[in-house]
Amino acid sequence: MWSMGWPIVGETLEFLFGKPEIFVSKRMRRYSPEIFKTKILGEKTVVICGPNGHKFLFSNEQKYFTAFRPHSMQKMFRSYKAPAAAAAPPAVAQPAIDKEAKVLRSPGFLKPEALVRYLGIMDSCTQEQMKAYWEGKDEVKVYPLAKTLTLGLACRFFLGIDELDRIARSVSNFDDVTVGMHSLILNFPGTTFYKATKAADELRRELKIVIQEKKAAMASGAPMHDILSHMIVASDPTGKHMPEAEIADKIMGLLTAGYSTVATAMTFFMKYVGERPDIYAKVLAEHKEIADSKKPGQFLEWDDINKMKYSWNVLYEVMRFTPPLQGTFREALTDFTYAGYTILCCILDC
Ligand code: HEM
Repeated sequence: MWSMGWPIVGETLEFLFGKPEIFVSKRMRRYSPEIFKTKILGEKTVVICGPNGHKFLFSNEQKYFTAFRPHSMQKMFRSYKAPAAAAAPPAVAQPAIDKEAKVLRSPGFLKPEALVRYLGIMDSCTQEQMKAYWEGKDEVKVYPLAKTLTLGLACRFFLGIDELDRIARSVSNFDDVTVGMHSLILNFPGTTFYKATKAADELRRELKIVIQEKKAAMASGAPMHDILSHMIVASDPTGKHMPEAEIADKIMGLLTAGYSTVATAMTFFMKYVGERPDIYAKVLAEHKEIADSKKPGQFLEWDDINKMKYSWNVLYEVMRFTPPLQGTFREALTDFTYAGYTILCCILDC
């Protein structure tokens, strides 16, 4: 007999406050290793499990599934367009999604190749941080330092700003938004969701100031290579530019998506490698060989990154052990059958 948990909250509390892997494995044992249903974050949810489930999901994107953002996330990122709203009628909705995807992806900002021209700056910023906060210290707190580094790099590449004080002041707001993205929508002082919406409002205010500064700098003819200036000039087929509030929202989404995931991966890389001196020695040897081949002041290049094969494999294993992001959601675009169960699409009628 399936259990959907308590009325209204369903099994959200166990999902949010327990360990997600235990939440899933317990139900896989109780119901089926392939699929089970539950109610989390206000939605009746089907969890498709295991390698076959992953393969099924990722080979049927836009056929059976499309991305779904929990309601807490939708409320925080106000410009988000739910696929349900976008789906009827499809002919009208599709351009909105295409336009958004195009603005974010067409210049290749988010493609791995784009990293090539950022590598030198990433390397020099990381070295600066190492010198300032790591070298010579008996003890350091890795996660906060990793977050300042990744948020700093993200602000540099997405917004074209490198004022570290300004960025450091925003870290706690970004942290609150990140936690609130998967939370119960209880909007009164003291709740996670309330704190996250306040933090999102503050970030939007700060980002609107950044947008206005950027527009002024662009008007003075300064050359710009960041994603923010691209969003400011981009227009839809009717020549309309994206409103400032929407730009602020999208930039907030990109920064939130980009900084804590990388910082989490870096932090757990250090933890696990620190616990295994044999692995640490191999990673160190690989990096030392690259460092020794460099002239003073010469930064990392794409070829060097490709040579770090052992380190990449260690990082993949770290992310498998502790995934930096737990739980992304999909909604069904059509009825379909998986592992003998029929999942009904409710995009248009619930
Ligand atoms: C270790 C680092 C990272 C991990 C583990 C990670 C993981 C993920 C995962 C699991 C998703 C959801 C994908 C899905 O539902 O199919 C996602 C989406 C996304 N990530 Fe990352 N991510 C990382 C770094 C970044 C960075 C640096 C950025 C900066 C731009 C970024 C931007 C995004 C965006 C914009 C989305 C939403 C994509 C969409 O809706 O089409 N991520 N990420």
